[in-house]
Amino acid sequence: MQNKPKLRFPAKFLWGASVSAHQVEGGNHNQWSVWELEHAKAKAAQAPHVWNDLEHWPDIKNEATKPENYVSGMAVDHFNRYEEDFDWVKKMRMNAFRFSVEWSRIEPEEGAWNAAAIEHYKKYVAALRKRNIEPMVTLFHFTLPVWFAAKGGFEKRANVKYFTRFAEKIVSELGIDIRYVITINEPEIYATESYLRGNWPPMKMSKRSTLSVLNNLAYAHNKAADAIHKLNRRYKVSVAKHSSFIYPGDDAVLSRKSAAIMQYLRDDWFLKKVTKRCDFLGVNYYASDRIYGYRMHNPNERLSDLGWDMSPGDIQFVLERLYRKYKLPIIVTENGLADAGDEHRSWWLTQTLLGMQGAMKEGVELEGYFHWSLVDNFEWDKGFWPRFGLLEVDRTAMKRRPRPSAVKLARVLNSLQE
Ligand code: BGC
Repeated sequence: MQNKPKLRFPAKFLWGASVSAHQVEGGNHNQWSVWELEHAKAKAAQAPHVWNDLEHWPDIKNEATKPENYVSGMAVDHFNRYEEDFDWVKKMRMNAFRFSVEWSRIEPEEGAWNAAAIEHYKKYVAALRKRNIEPMVTLFHFTLPVWFAAKGGFEKRANVKYFTRFAEKIVSELGIDIRYVITINEPEIYATESYLRGNWPPMKMSKRSTLSVLNNLAYAHNKAADAIHKLNRRYKVSVAKHSSFIYPGDDAVLSRKSAAIMQYLRDDWFLKKVTKRCDFLGVNYYASDRIYGYRMHNPNERLSDLGWDMSPGDIQFVLERLYRKYKLPIIVTENGLADAGDEHRSWWLTQTLLGMQGAMKEGVELEGYFHWSLVDNFEWDKGFWPRFGLLEVDRTAMKRRPRPSAVKLARVLNSLQE
């Protein structure tokens, strides 16, 4: 990453990193941790068949073939080490942090609030405020209390009331210390992985269930946003919408039409249901998809450790499209890559910052950027081997160490604040 890029961002711009509770805290008991224990052995056994095409397979083989990799366990012990992690946020010259509150800690049994867990998150937010770091809280980031999942989770419309009640409770408890609230993280990724592809709990493969979940998540956002705004109209509420840049690889009518239809189905079908109740638009950008005819065929010139095509600069087109369509200020709520060797992260960050700057020059009201992730963490069904952290974590001693790209990013953020 260039040390002195010609970059200009407003002084109020939010610069931060993101995490989610289950991926970093450790010690959680929810629908996901139950599923991990049931599937860890099988996942370890399947790993050579799933991942051996990856260039880095020899490096990850050892970890990916062990059942422990698939159990979140103590994760990176962020639950106890959050103060240290916030010090790192500060050291990286960031002024914002996105995290999620773990519903299963706050309401472990239906209707029973856990005062100690609520107290924990109050202290957590106070620790951010003390360091002048703007908190952004997420209410649903893929994990659910076991009792809520047993009732059918978000597949049932009647269950949405429990989520709204939780949203109202935790936001009123955290009070004015919080300004930014994300109700739901990546609704369509959750719905498709959990209810269509069968990769995540509850491992269903049903188009009907997927549609119900998506509709109910939109309804849940709208209900929760209303409840939160009723507490105080000044809360800024949004979803964190995963968005790819989907573009035709050639001029053929079919390629152009398919790309447009895919973009609509993946983004706009859902966004149209919720943007009236969004004060800004949270956007998670990871990848672009190039379409020929009906098929996706990416350039794959540079691949992340997960084998994902990397086109960080395309963030510009995602931001421009979404702003043109919805006219809401945008905050990039996630963006990053699995890169254990830190070979590409600096390049990625430079391209991303330039892309964001480009979008702003085109008139996009962009108000913040949160990198995924602050620390290496538990990558859902893949376990611990994909390393997304600006900080590398050695999980035996739980020690954090900034990767070289993090040091460079801190220098750039510093120069932007001069
Ligand atoms: C999710 C994160 C995840 C990241 C990298 C996003 O889809 O919100 O929880 O770790 O991407 O895959």
